[in-house]
Amino acid sequence: MPDKKFTQKMKQNWKDIARKWQSYTPPVKPSKAELYFYEQKIKKLTQKQKNLKALVLGATPEFRGLLAKYKIDTTILDNNKISVQAMTSLIKKKNPKEKVKIGNWFKIPLKPKTFDLVLSDTAQDNIKYKDFPKFFENIHKVIKPTGFWLSGHVHLEKKNYITFKTYIKMYHTNPKEFKSKQTAIGRFFQLAYEPEFYNYKTRIFNFTKVDAKVKQLVKKGQLPKPALKDLCFNIDYAQPIIPLPELISLLNKKFKILDQMQDKSHPAMIIRWSAVLKPRT
Ligand SMILES: C[S@@+](CC[C@H](N)C(=O)[O-])C[C@H]1O[C@@H](n2cnc3c(N)ncnc32)[C@H](O)[C@@H]1O
Repeated sequence: MPDKKFTQKMKQNWKDIARKWQSYTPPVKPSKAELYFYEQKIKKLTQKQKNLKALVLGATPEFRGLLAKYKIDTTILDNNKISVQAMTSLIKKKNPKEKVKIGNWFKIPLKPKTFDLVLSDTAQDNIKYKDFPKFFENIHKVIKPTGFWLSGHVHLEKKNYITFKTYIKMYHTNPKEFKSKQTAIGRFFQLAYEPEFYNYKTRIFNFTKVDAKVKQLVKKGQLPKPALKDLCFNIDYAQPIIPLPELISLLNKKFKILDQMQDKSHPAMIIRWSAVLKPRT
């Protein structure tokens, strides 16, 4: 059975993150271009097929709004009722055909081969790296052989990596740059490969450790106070993150990539990858 303690900790984290969702920007949530990419696929499918059934892993309001637009029969599967409630309050167009199931992705309480569409955004950030294959297998199980997985991911971009020292230097040189949330998030993820924050075995990037180091520098007077707002995520969070080729090779075992896109609208988007996947039979 996948790591229970980790799932429990993630559950706690998301209670808080849902509240912050509105202030977040891509790359930690789907961008307009990515949503457009998914919408084209959904639109085409609705033209070909009636009574589509969709499953959303997590509670991403942007996906749920999209499925509402096409009046698609939707199931939300999330293990955190509070997070789902908070995310639901952010949806502009409610879907009368949406039902929420509170449950674990590792014990999917759903029949096999049920869904024409599965949607998820950065879902495996919430599970241990060692459990990725099992997670992909579970999605493969519930999707129809003719179905699709619309799947958004965040990956480790080694060529983008900067040290903590460089990160701080960048802030000193141009603090204004970090006032843009998207740039700040992008810069933060550039730190993902720093040995002090990245565990090469578990593949976990620890946000909390970055925050702690920034707070230390502010305390010592080596960074100005606004750095607390500009540089800190202010959450107790750590997530697995792996390079894209490795992620693709894991996905390839169970799925075929039909289409893919990388939003190039902002340098921070370099860590994002979206795909339309088809289960291998
Ligand atoms: C999919 S993820 C990433 C953010 C995402 N875009 C969303 O839906 O909020 C976050 C959601 O996944 C849920 N979650 C995390 N681990 C889970 C698990 N093992 N089973 C079911 N839901 C889980 C959390 O409660 C949270 O609402």
